[in-house]
Amino acid sequence: MSADIKRAVVVGAGPSGFYTTGQLLAEGFAVDLIDVLPVPFGLVRFGVAPDHPKIKNVTRVYEKTASHENFRFFGGVKLGRDITRAELLQRYDVVVYSTGTSADNRLGVDGEDLPGSYAATEFVAWYNGHPDYADRQFDLSAERAVVIGNGNVAIDVARMLVLGPDELAPTDTADHAIAALAKSNVKEVVLLGRRGPAQAAFTNPELLELGELKRADVVVDPADLELDEASADWLESDAADATARKNVEILREYARREPTGKSHRVVLKFLRSPLEILGDEKVEGLRIGVNKIEAGADGALRAVDTGESETLDCGIVLRSIGYRGNPLDDVPFEPKRGLIRNQEGRVCDESGNALPGEYCAGWVKRGPSGVIGTNKKCATGTVAKIIEDRDAGLLGNPTADGDPSDWLRERVPAFTSWRGWGLIDEHEQSEGEAQGRPRVKLVNVDEMTRIASGAAERA
Ligand SMILES: Cc1cc2nc3c(=O)[nH]c(=O)nc-3n(C[C@H](O)[C@H](O)[C@H](O)COP(=O)(O)OP(=O)(O)OC[C@H]3O[C@@H](n4cnc5c(N)ncnc54)[C@H](O)[C@@H]3O)c2cc1C
Ligand SMILES: NC(=O)c1ccc[n+]([C@@H]2O[C@H](COP(=O)([O-])OP(=O)(O)OC[C@H]3O[C@@H](n4cnc5c(N)ncnc54)[C@H](OP(=O)(O)O)[C@@H]3O)[C@@H](O)[C@H]2O)c1
Repeated sequence: MSADIKRAVVVGAGPSGFYTTGQLLAEGFAVDLIDVLPVPFGLVRFGVAPDHPKIKNVTRVYEKTASHENFRFFGGVKLGRDITRAELLQRYDVVVYSTGTSADNRLGVDGEDLPGSYAATEFVAWYNGHPDYADRQFDLSAERAVVIGNGNVAIDVARMLVLGPDELAPTDTADHAIAALAKSNVKEVVLLGRRGPAQAAFTNPELLELGELKRADVVVDPADLELDEASADWLESDAADATARKNVEILREYARREPTGKSHRVVLKFLRSPLEILGDEKVEGLRIGVNKIEAGADGALRAVDTGESETLDCGIVLRSIGYRGNPLDDVPFEPKRGLIRNQEGRVCDESGNALPGEYCAGWVKRGPSGVIGTNKKCATGTVAKIIEDRDAGLLGNPTADGDPSDWLRERVPAFTSWRGWGLIDEHEQSEGEAQGRPRVKLVNVDEMTRIASGAAERA
């Protein structure tokens, strides 16, 4: 490698990390991509629902990025545990944080910590085989589960709870989850939205999929589709987007449906907020407040408590009300928003001054919203700032001599290289092939590392 080539390290090998890496390689940087796990792809592997395999084909783009001669992968290396921010700044001209937002938001109501009340983040990570969640237990003995939130994650969670064993069998759902879901008693999943149908954050294909479930009827009360004046006006106005209009149309069609007697049900309820999770030893129900929609001073349509309340028996509550970032070593962080403090991807100090050589991309930069492709545009924005800074001579000022890989190898001798990940991938796919599944996921870091270490033996 030429001595004057600039070195970048990208921390976090999810979509935003890969898009940033690809664009930096194209700009002539050498890029080391680091992830805490021995396996890459972030939420593409540990978030995207297992019954949506086509979406995961995006990893082919990332594999192409990884084939670049100036690309290296260091899996199993955690910023804040194995290495520090200061050490990265000593060794790289550019440090990009693309670590996502893996923590969950809390409802802040009584009973939230009762057994049977879970964060969707952990349920999703569990059924997708994330090593940190593989040992979690979810009590699925109740007949009714309530999922709080009206986003696509809530839909994923509801769908996973009602898919049949024959539907899960050909997927890469973690084996422990396939076994537990096969024994589940859940017959009804209630999706609870704090605002109305016009404000739901679902996208159309995901909402449509709920109406096509093999063993579950979708149930919507027609009364919930009688929109309040503010929502009806908004929906008619230019401010409304096509997705919201189509969502309401889909929900109206659901409201006209008669149940067909399927064994399971997904019930969508709107204008309802949890006030308290009820139960002594474990979740037994929910006290729910009834809301109405009101336009705030800024014109935004908000849920306002009417003072009315009702109770709903249930044994499981899954809150799916968004993700948030965790502080990362001593990287400047905005605790309120749960994001790295930044301006358009440049990491900033409290006064808003950009810190040389430090950048961020993806969910930890802009918040936990947007589909996989949104992170490409986000990475482009960050890389544009890096190029501006490079051209102005404003990148970092690394002082340590030598190739940072020597330091990384010494610090984490059992790291997983890209070749090592290739062996894990090969192993998982060949196990899957025998069972007619895309892969059988390894869920144990030591086992992943052991299989990846064959890369060193073969090299
Ligand atoms: C449940 C769920 C389902 C989704 N399904 C879809 C879908 O079907 N289609 C779609 O288009 N979008 C979907 N999305 C959205 C999509 O997954 C996100 O837009 C995208 O993954 C965000 O990318 P990211 O790189 O910012 O974060 P992430 O994908 O979260 O990647 C962050 C990476 O950083 C690593 N990391 C974290 N901390 C450290 C550390 N300290 N040191 C080293 N590495 C670290 C993590 O291990 C991870 O690999 C879904 C999101 C969720 C939550
Ligand atoms: N198949 C896919 O393409 C797919 C699958 C999964 C995820 N994703 C994407 O990933 C991103 C994250 O998805 P997400 O579902 O986690 O987030 P989201 O789309 O932001 O939805 C969060 C939901 O939680 C509600 N909420 C927030 N705080 C609440 C509270 N205190 N009480 C009750 N409800 C509350 C929100 O209601 P308000 O609107 O009232 O705030 C909203 O309905 C989204 O962009 C999503 O599209 C895509």
